[in-house]
Amino acid sequence: MSAIKEALVQAAEALHISSPAATEKDGTGVQVYVDETQGNDETGDGSKASPFATPVAALLSAGPNSSIFVKKVLVEGEAPAEGVDADGYAPISAAGAKKAKKGYEVALKKQKKAQEQAEKEKEKEGQEDKKLEESKKIVLEEPAGAEPAKKIKIHQGVQNRDKRVKVCGWVHRLRSQKGLTFIVLRDGTGYLQCVLSGKLTQTYDALTLTNESTVEIRGVIKSLPEGKTAPDGHELVADWWQCIGKAPGGDESFTNLVAEGADPSILADRRHLVIRGETASAVLKVRSKVLQAFRAEFEHQGLTEVTPPCMVQTQVEGGSTLFSFDYYGQPAYLTQSSQLYLETCLPSLGDVFCIQESFRAEKSHTRRHLSEYTHLEAELAFLSFDELLAHLEELICGTLERVFADPKTKALIEQLNPNFKMPSRPFMRMDYKDAIKYLNDKKILTDSGEEHKVGDDIAEAAERKMTDDLNVPIFLINFPREIKSFYMKRCPADERFTESVDVLMPGVGEIVGGSMRMSDQKQLLEAYKTEGIDPAPYFWYTDQRKYGTSEHGGYGLGVERFLAWLTNRWTVREASLYPRWTGRCTP
Ligand code: 4AD
Repeated sequence: MSAIKEALVQAAEALHISSPAATEKDGTGVQVYVDETQGNDETGDGSKASPFATPVAALLSAGPNSSIFVKKVLVEGEAPAEGVDADGYAPISAAGAKKAKKGYEVALKKQKKAQEQAEKEKEKEGQEDKKLEESKKIVLEEPAGAEPAKKIKIHQGVQNRDKRVKVCGWVHRLRSQKGLTFIVLRDGTGYLQCVLSGKLTQTYDALTLTNESTVEIRGVIKSLPEGKTAPDGHELVADWWQCIGKAPGGDESFTNLVAEGADPSILADRRHLVIRGETASAVLKVRSKVLQAFRAEFEHQGLTEVTPPCMVQTQVEGGSTLFSFDYYGQPAYLTQSSQLYLETCLPSLGDVFCIQESFRAEKSHTRRHLSEYTHLEAELAFLSFDELLAHLEELICGTLERVFADPKTKALIEQLNPNFKMPSRPFMRMDYKDAIKYLNDKKILTDSGEEHKVGDDIAEAAERKMTDDLNVPIFLINFPREIKSFYMKRCPADERFTESVDVLMPGVGEIVGGSMRMSDQKQLLEAYKTEGIDPAPYFWYTDQRKYGTSEHGGYGLGVERFLAWLTNRWTVREASLYPRWTGRCTP
């Protein structure tokens, strides 16, 4: 076949155009039919029975010298116009033929270009395959006479500059530029830019390296010249490295699996991968420091840490949110709060606290409710309600000061929440009744669209609106008895209300719930009755009033809510390692 003929057949094939049924391939004298309305370039063959839709397709199929006939519109009852056959076909006009030829030439050129491109790519692939094959032969050796590398974690980089070190970690980011490979390495303690050059970039592992692979890199950490930036202002100039575990590329690559903006339920399934990201890991690091700071602040204030049980047979915050299970044939629950146990510790250990998981079978899908959350609770003896509030203020501010005193944590919080403002003391104190008035004055309605009245439980939306409007931490105090728990002490001035407090923070709402407790045994027994609680299983709690009672009070702080406020997270789920909520108990 001639080169032109071959190109023609290929062009036609590329455009899915079939050869004319009863024609010859060289085109000379071949008649080919085009029907612009009924024809089809892909399925047609250029016969009258199966015409093409365009003259270009006709030329590509039958050749540049073929004779094109185009279908005309026949008017019923009228004889066909001159030159038009009985089926309505007439030779293509001179202008039509010229246009078709032009189109045909363009199509041929396109085809040629595509072919050349494909060939180039094939050649390149061949070269790459060869390069990969060659790369397998490269074996890296440590430089002769190099000092032994000292094993360090990334956060120890600054004090180990200009010494030979080895660092292990995960490839957080990867980039090749001008014959160099830049790896941002992550080991959980920080990020380190590493530069590979020369032979180090030519090994099989270097050519096929992927994000999230694990590597060991040896070399010397050098400060960066001015104007260049990298974490901690330095980079590891590698002289040897090895891949420990290669992560998948392509469809299964890490970046494909946890793409930003992906469906939240998919990201929840892949939480084990999401936590490797800069934002999620920053929140978890802040969480760790916050827990340390709370413990240090409690220690400073003389409270002792205890670890109460999570499996219990008593309720604290109402039966509706209890998770129950079978405990050797007896009904038992996952704890809602360790408060009752903390109260029993007062005569033994003095003021106490615990940081323990609490469980709530919350049916609500809100952004601040978890089914399992970390509950920081404390109980203090021989104090007044005012002293309890002062202690809470001291705890929150003292903890924040400790957190911000650590430069790394401060930087993480600034990264997550650049607008965070340290709360100023004293916190605003707002009586429950004043809050009801505030909501009504501001036309903030109940969930069912009504005005608030004294006795209402202020719903999440209204509480959040009020807190966001006021935009400062608030001690909301003295809630009515009916909407609070059975154990709360009544206000001496008006027994319809309780010495209770919710701490509200902008953006989240309630982060702490606390109160003074009933110290009188008789009053507590009555409270069980009113609540319909059988006092028998609570004998140990009641005994706390029997064997030397005292005025006492305490509170529970939702650690994820505190963190959502501090790190400006949309939901408390982001502040939990593996959050559990309605319907999700995995991974
Ligand atoms: O107000 P609550 O229910 O109070 C108690 O459990 C008391 N017994 C605590 C005590 O006095 N020792 O819960 C206290 C705090 C809330 O303010 C909130 O921050 C958090 O616990 N919390 C939750 N956090 C996440 N998900 C949930 N489902 C939560 N329920 C309460």
